Amino acid sequence: MLNIEENKVLAPYTSFNIGGLARYFIEVNDEHEAREAISWAKHKNLEILVIGQGSNMLLPDEDFSGLVIKNNIKGIKEESLDNNYIIIEAGSGEIWDDIVKYSVEKKYWGLENLSYIPGTIGAAPVQNIGAYGVELKDVFYSLRAINYDSLETEIFAKHECNFAYRSSIFKKQLKNKIFITSVSLQVSQEANPQLDYGSLHEVIKKDVYELEPSDISKAIVEIRKNKLPEPQEWGNSGSFFQNPEITKDHFEKLKAKYPDIKYYNLDNGLIKVPAGWLIETAGWKGKSLGKAGVWGKQALILINLGGASSKDIKKLAERIIEDVKEKFDIELTPEVNIY
Ligand code: EPU
Repeated sequence: MLNIEENKVLAPYTSFNIGGLARYFIEVNDEHEAREAISWAKHKNLEILVIGQGSNMLLPDEDFSGLVIKNNIKGIKEESLDNNYIIIEAGSGEIWDDIVKYSVEKKYWGLENLSYIPGTIGAAPVQNIGAYGVELKDVFYSLRAINYDSLETEIFAKHECNFAYRSSIFKKQLKNKIFITSVSLQVSQEANPQLDYGSLHEVIKKDVYELEPSDISKAIVEIRKNKLPEPQEWGNSGSFFQNPEITKDHFEKLKAKYPDIKYYNLDNGLIKVPAGWLIETAGWKGKSLGKAGVWGKQALILINLGGASSKDIKKLAERIIEDVKEKFDIELTPEVNIY
């Protein structure tokens, strides 16, 4: 029996603490329940919205007339792929950081740089989460998903996922077409520390040969805690915008005007500029507009100052986009899923 609730307030299910009512709402605990819920919505011709931890979405203030499926599918299994690699398979409703902790405690390598990222593991491949020089695609093995149309289970191997910077086939072509039920990651027993990103070298004091995954994980948790607001205190969705990529010509013009501009050279010849730097340089760090604010320690993060509406956050985001466009001729793209 499906336990469908009606007119459920969605705000507490999102890290922005924003959102209207869901006409229908259900929590699913396994693949079977997920399939039943999808089938029910299809029969009633309802739109489906899946919520994991709600940590990368800005919901509208208006009510949602479809079915919200809160994903609570749990469970962790592991098996050896060969002498070195282990496959960890987790239910898509598992909290991402719990999987990181599981892997780090077992001294497996691969997930440590992705420590303390909010969200569920089911959402991780959708936007190809990334931090400190590692992206989900570097450890991704495969995933299982239910197709909304056929209600069949499909398996996606890494090469079928079109992973790119904060993007995948699940965020583009397959958006609103499948429900991810489990994700398999490939971690390694051989040491493979990734310390190239920015300040990571300075924070980790140990000799590289003595490092364990937990040393890197601890360092990253510390960096993230210092820089990023806790959603329980200030509603937020992490980076609100993607880091834009610009041409060399464009970059040279900016560099002439702003000699201290931060940047990374990309393999495709473009230059990535941190949106946080652009927003800070445009003067927005720590500023607010109504009940929406720009985090004072990391300008890429927009926060709910208390009681903000979706419109408040969007208005602030629009003003920032306009200003960055005017000052740097760069169009910022939201990284958060805006509904
Ligand atoms: N910077 C500023 N001012 C700011 C923020 C950043 O000048 O207000 C500069 C920093 O000094 C640094 C550069 O911009 O030189 C990059 O900053 P940071 O290392 O904080 O990372 P980011 O590019 O702002 C990205 C990801 C984060 C991820 C960090 C660490 C995106 C959109 N964001 O941020 O991911 O944690 O790198 O790897 O790619 C997320 O996606 O939600 C997220 C938090």
